[in-house]
Amino acid sequence: MSTFQAPKGTYDLTPPRSAKFLAVRAAISGPLKNSGYGYIETPGFEDVALFARGVGESTDIVSKEMYAFETKGGDKLALRPEGTASVLRAALEANLHKAGNLPVKLWYSGSYYRYERPQAGRYRHFSQVGAEAIGTEDPALDAELIILADQAYRSLGLTRFRILLNSLGDKECRPVYREALQTFLRDLDLDEETRRRIEINPLRVLDDKRADVQKQLGGAPMLRDYLCDACKAYHEEVRNLLTAAGVVYEDDEKLVRGLDYYTRTTFEFVHDGLGSQSAVGGGGRYDGLSEMIGGPALPSVGWALGVDRTVLALEAEGVELDIPATTSVYAVPLGEEARRVLFGLVTELRRAGVATDFAFGGRGLKGAMKSANRSGARFTIVAGERDLAEGTVQLKDMESGEQQAVALDELVAVVRARTA
Ligand code: HAM
Repeated sequence: MSTFQAPKGTYDLTPPRSAKFLAVRAAISGPLKNSGYGYIETPGFEDVALFARGVGESTDIVSKEMYAFETKGGDKLALRPEGTASVLRAALEANLHKAGNLPVKLWYSGSYYRYERPQAGRYRHFSQVGAEAIGTEDPALDAELIILADQAYRSLGLTRFRILLNSLGDKECRPVYREALQTFLRDLDLDEETRRRIEINPLRVLDDKRADVQKQLGGAPMLRDYLCDACKAYHEEVRNLLTAAGVVYEDDEKLVRGLDYYTRTTFEFVHDGLGSQSAVGGGGRYDGLSEMIGGPALPSVGWALGVDRTVLALEAEGVELDIPATTSVYAVPLGEEARRVLFGLVTELRRAGVATDFAFGGRGLKGAMKSANRSGARFTIVAGERDLAEGTVQLKDMESGEQQAVALDELVAVVRARTA
């Protein structure tokens, strides 16, 4: 071990486990690519004010968890704690919404940073794959996104996840509810910090996990009873479309989410094998965010799924992903001359598209064959002086144990045919 370790709250992805992360990213992005979402990449840091305004000054993410810093040039930046504000900023900056093709549908994959107290499933550096559909108010778009996330999780073989669904209302009905809730909460026996929260973000109090707080929330007014007719109808339509698609969800009136930009549809994917950090993904509609960051009115909806927690969910369910061995052919030279010849063949095979590896470092046959086995390669090529004198190499099928001599100049064709 070196003097250094990965910083607190972070970990390295190393083979073989790292292959699961690639597979999860591919499984989540697959349905999106197949549904008209284009790939977007934004910087790992942004103007700190983008998150303060977008995600919300009163959220834990902005007030406690942001990696904010000032550069030598005096710019106030923050490592991105989430992707939505950045993606919307980038879409506005590139005028994607003016190309006349709404919604602008985008997907992304990357690293995000939150200065949280690390625990199982909660890290300071984590990875998300996300999707945003910008500029259209249509319940079918909300439904589409939930259906695609469900499809992604099912394609991975996950079964023990649940979809929690709620509506947070809009700028008409939510303020009325907010006030009613505040009036109710102010009469309760709560600590100072929670009292402060009542004034800044009362909906978050409903989400308080402490039993003594939950006990007092029994008679709290519920948002459902305050939703305006338009919000009610919208939510009903989302629910109907999900049901028609065979996607099972649970209505969860207490689902609030930790970011301020949400309006109407909100949802979370939770997994029952993960303990307290059970949210594997979440999202919702954010009709006001564009205006909050200085853009035009662009009603939008999106989600982000946590790659780290999705991998943990797979492990909790004991799902073994079908990850094919990366190497198809492993070459083992015996002696100096064979090294040169086989190294040349390895290059040829690779150029012909065959995944090939080589026993580097001049090891003996036993050690080299061990590496060949470990590589998962279906075939090994072994050659010594006698083989080369005859113009051949030994091609061994590692599954059947069968071995045949193949002429040097036919090897690429034979291997290609047998690995196709
Ligand atoms: P979020 O719920 O904050 O939403 O994060 C989405 C997912 O990222 C979580 O469900 C979780 O799986 C993962 N995640 C978040 N924090 C951590 C952490 N500290 N360690 C490990 N995994 C974590 C958003 O970020 C919104 N931008 C989603 C969205 C997109 N809403 C609309 N569009």
